[in-house]
Amino acid sequence: MIVTIDGPAGAGKSSAAQELAQRLGFQVLDTGAMYRAVTLAVLRKHVAVHDETALERLLQNLRLELNPGQVLLNGEDVTLPIRSEEVTLASGAIASSPVVRRRLVHLQRTLANGKNYVCEGRDQGTIVFPDALCKFFLVADPVERAHRRQRQLVKRGLTVTVEQILHEQEERDRRDAARDLAPMVPAADAVVLDSTKMTLPQVVETMERMVRSRIQAQRSPC
Ligand code: DC
Repeated sequence: MIVTIDGPAGAGKSSAAQELAQRLGFQVLDTGAMYRAVTLAVLRKHVAVHDETALERLLQNLRLELNPGQVLLNGEDVTLPIRSEEVTLASGAIASSPVVRRRLVHLQRTLANGKNYVCEGRDQGTIVFPDALCKFFLVADPVERAHRRQRQLVKRGLTVTVEQILHEQEERDRRDAARDLAPMVPAADAVVLDSTKMTLPQVVETMERMVRSRIQAQRSPC
């Protein structure tokens, strides 16, 4: 069984996915972490973002492992480096590469095959798992999202103004939503949830209720 949570950065996807997966006894697939890990590898190897042949070569020698709370790139723990501002800013361009998307979509389907997963990202309900049991598209007011992001950065000892974050966020949203390949849009059958005025437990409870009712409906179709 697959549950998908898509939506823009800062809408609360990761926290909701973790909590929901725990309640349901599912595993979590953070697909943004996968794009971030590839971005880190690209930056380290100084590969040109639009050189699809070079990207293909890099992907052939790249081993990604996702453990709970940990991302390994060719055996190295890159959980923290993939969250750097440099990687965040460069990831949008890498996520627009056809060769990178093809490879990661394949990996995501392989990882989840035959298992119960909550998968979060931008294209999980539209492209990767079109037959998912339950699909959510989580949104929140841009200013609220920027404040959430600022609080995360403060925890890491970084000082950035909300205006600065808002500016970068708008740019990323625009790029994720406007790209030709796997744009960030809600699937036609996704439930759109606005988390602006909701607490995390409220968001997760709403999701859990819907997932359980779908599971119930699947078990007793009549
Ligand atoms: O959710 P995040 O900020 O960790 O995602 C990192 C980047 O990867 C961001 O630019 C959006 C992109 N992404 C994507 O294009 N498709 C996904 N399924 C997940 C993330």
